[in-house]
Amino acid sequence: MDKSDASLLSSQTTPIAITTPSTTTSVRANAAFVVLLQNKDLHEMRRTMRMLEYSFNQRYSYPYIFLNNKPFTDHFMTHIRGMTKADVRFGLIPNEHWSYPDFVNQTLAAANRRQMEANKVPYGESESYRHMCRYESGFIYRHPLVQSLDYYWRVEPGVEFPCDIDFDPFKYMKDNGIKYGFTIALPEYVSTIPTLWDNVKRFRQQYPHHIAKRNSLSWISYDKGDSYNNCHFWSNFEIVDTSFFKSQAYQDYFELLDATGGFFYERWGDAPVHSIAAALMLDRREIHFFNDIGYRHGMYEHCPENSELQLKCACDPADNVDWRSYSCLRRFLEA
Ligand SMILES: *[C@@H]1O[C@H](CO)[C@@H](O)[C@H](O)[C@H]1NC(C)=O
Repeated sequence: MDKSDASLLSSQTTPIAITTPSTTTSVRANAAFVVLLQNKDLHEMRRTMRMLEYSFNQRYSYPYIFLNNKPFTDHFMTHIRGMTKADVRFGLIPNEHWSYPDFVNQTLAAANRRQMEANKVPYGESESYRHMCRYESGFIYRHPLVQSLDYYWRVEPGVEFPCDIDFDPFKYMKDNGIKYGFTIALPEYVSTIPTLWDNVKRFRQQYPHHIAKRNSLSWISYDKGDSYNNCHFWSNFEIVDTSFFKSQAYQDYFELLDATGGFFYERWGDAPVHSIAAALMLDRREIHFFNDIGYRHGMYEHCPENSELQLKCACDPADNVDWRSYSCLRRFLEA
């Protein structure tokens, strides 16, 4: 890390460290963890919960909401409940949110999946992955267990939280008017989104009033919106103000995208879909990089390098993805 990295990082962390209240007695936000998973994910989920409870939630007791397109087994529910004293709720995803809309040509979708598999596109062959991405993009915040929340924190089975989180990120967002929080920003696989940006352009033309004045277009495009640079927040971690997804702007955006069938004909991820929406429709100050939340999913880790934060973490700063050449974080902080 060179000097400019250090100043960039400290300008992010210092105000957070000073302003974050570490009291646990303050009233909780109307918020929960929301997890989309299957019965087979039980043990990975328990490992993640143990870490999340230890580093954060044993002091805050935010509820967990688990959603599945198939019913959870009793075994699953018992063993999940055993991991926390907090309230745990289990919900079924309605079939109409996890199936093909009428306008999608399923023969064409299947042919495209086979083509993507031949081209070795990640999850290119997977039908369920596509349903999941579409569900996370347009339906999760409408689930009866989720829709009354003001904020939710998305968690996936197997993710790790190596640092003490001794403040309440939900309250932090509420107190600072943050609508979207992230820890890792990376480029998307281009082969999964051939026509996404063309449709985003169409959205911008059709709904200019939905575009925020102080948006983050310069973060996702090097040429003032002509092309997409594929940067996105890694949405397997995200903390969101649900009013953002419930807004008319986001509804119009999702409906325009969904009507193209791109979630099925291509393999649009919820990460670029959420990130492009946040970049265009939120004020840049409503998007927050949670530097002090250590996070690992698979091969990528956000491990805070700042020495004060390192004392609260069990991760190797050498593994930190923030300043790797492919990371989109630096550009976000500069934009
Ligand atoms: C669906 O897609 C297949 C394959 O491209 C095509 O042959 C067929 O005509 C399409 N069906 C409709 C109803 O458009």
